[in-house]
Amino acid sequence: MRFYYRAYVACIAIYLAGSSLLLCAQPAPDYVWYRNAVVYALDVDTFKDSNADGIGDFQGLIQQLDYLHGLGITVLWLSPFQPTPDRDDGYDITDYYGVDPRLGTPGDFAEFMFQARQRGMRVIMDLVINHTSDEHPWFRSARQGKHSPYRQWYVWRDNRPADAGKGMVFPGVQKETWTFDSVSTTYYFHRFYDFQPDLNYSNPQVEAESKRIIGYWLNQGFSGFRLDAVPFIIEEDGKNVDRPEHRFDQLVAIRRHIQLHGQEAILLGEANVAPEESNDYFGKDGVGMQMMFNFFVNQHFFYTLATGELQPLVRALEQTRDIPEGAQWANFLRNHDEIDLGRLTTRQREKIYAAMGPDKNMQLYDRGIRRRLAPMLGNNPQRLAMAYSLLFALPGTPVLRYGDEIGMGDDLRLKERLSVRTPMQWTDAPYAGFSTTAPFRPVIDAGEYDYRKINVASQRTDPASLLTLTTKLIRLRKEHPAIGLGKWIISDHKAGDLLITQFTDERETILTVHNFAPNRASAELACPGQVLTDLFSGEDIPVKNGKVQLTVKEYGYHWFQVR
Ligand code: NOJ
Ligand code: CA
Repeated sequence: MRFYYRAYVACIAIYLAGSSLLLCAQPAPDYVWYRNAVVYALDVDTFKDSNADGIGDFQGLIQQLDYLHGLGITVLWLSPFQPTPDRDDGYDITDYYGVDPRLGTPGDFAEFMFQARQRGMRVIMDLVINHTSDEHPWFRSARQGKHSPYRQWYVWRDNRPADAGKGMVFPGVQKETWTFDSVSTTYYFHRFYDFQPDLNYSNPQVEAESKRIIGYWLNQGFSGFRLDAVPFIIEEDGKNVDRPEHRFDQLVAIRRHIQLHGQEAILLGEANVAPEESNDYFGKDGVGMQMMFNFFVNQHFFYTLATGELQPLVRALEQTRDIPEGAQWANFLRNHDEIDLGRLTTRQREKIYAAMGPDKNMQLYDRGIRRRLAPMLGNNPQRLAMAYSLLFALPGTPVLRYGDEIGMGDDLRLKERLSVRTPMQWTDAPYAGFSTTAPFRPVIDAGEYDYRKINVASQRTDPASLLTLTTKLIRLRKEHPAIGLGKWIISDHKAGDLLITQFTDERETILTVHNFAPNRASAELACPGQVLTDLFSGEDIPVKNGKVQLTVKEYGYHWFQVR
């Protein structure tokens, strides 16, 4: 009997141990790495020059990896780095399988990938497969005429289509979407500049080649792609340019192919679409792209920054709330392009222009502003800090743009979007410590944003700098993954200027408060716990009868842990 009793107890113990092991083996809720990443976007040629030719390169980037790691970055997004005539800053590729020799050798590239991995950082790259450069050997061949093996890789018409003057992505600069090719004496289709002919995705050979490109780079160690110009890849080229049909099955095919090569690899889509279209891109049940930039929230975020009116931002967040499980928004303030305000009403856009880009030279393509974040916010440190705090406290994954962590400015003398792509400002040494020789694109060396005033070296030792704040925000954000993964609600209070958001996961509840007004704002918060701990100051605020009375300074912000 005793034997049976002991055996029984032993069985129970083994069963319990087994189930607790099983419980331990459950993946942590943040196992989906991209949902709690901190992404940093950079272009190798403007980041750091190692060999004194004035052009940033992979060896220079390697030198700065510890800076990025120290900042807390977990994912680097590299702008196009393949061989290019560089007429659209690399988004015009001539060899999908190469490394632009200006940036280094394939060996330098491989060393960079190794060094990033050593520091636990993932790398994603721009995948520019909607179009090639017109100097790509495929297009050179296709131009030779109907007998070229590459003819059907592009989209041709014998005569100028009636809608050739419609559907331009760069209105005001680009004149048409069909351009006459003098070699084949026919017209080719291009959504972007005329030197970027669209690839023809109804040709299975093009689809097969794009898969080879994807496979190639995943095997070089990338964790995924920022997929350029997504709606234009999957549209029926040249047909009904104003309201084209989209082939979402192509996105599913790309996603499948990506996961064949790397289980964890992701697609981060550049698709500036209406909220109701987003789920077509994420795919039903999340079988499309895992991530997309939230352009919709971005535009409303700036509207709220410009006007202080909270509701448009709140509505934009609500309208983009429901996405498939496993999908994630990527949030950003500014990127390498103009800020696109095309989804706002004319009145809303005008208000942003007036507040943030009043001169014609600051505006671009009849829809946006070609300025950096700091100048758009009047270089007001408290306002910048609040905007950054909110970026890290939005549901989704934050994406930073190089130089914005120190509040770099823009150079409006440069054409179109190059204004926001000047070399990184590392120190107050000549050429901003970016290079020891005059860079291929000038550093900002005058005015408020002069590199002698705005640079990494001076900000890293300044406890009140934007760089110090960004580092803190990144640390906090990582310590509180509920923001990226948890459930969220926006407090429906009538306090006007304060955006109050509550994030909850199985570990904790976080409450964030942002004041968009240039004056103090107060509100009574309904609060689930007994004490709020301010995660910046460590201060505890008691909750009385489920309520807290809060006063927030002008452009102030708080992150509270509810205890
Ligand atoms: C979107 C990129 O962000 C932009 O910089 C580029 O000009 C176009 N796609 C064309 O590739
Ligand atoms: Ca160089």
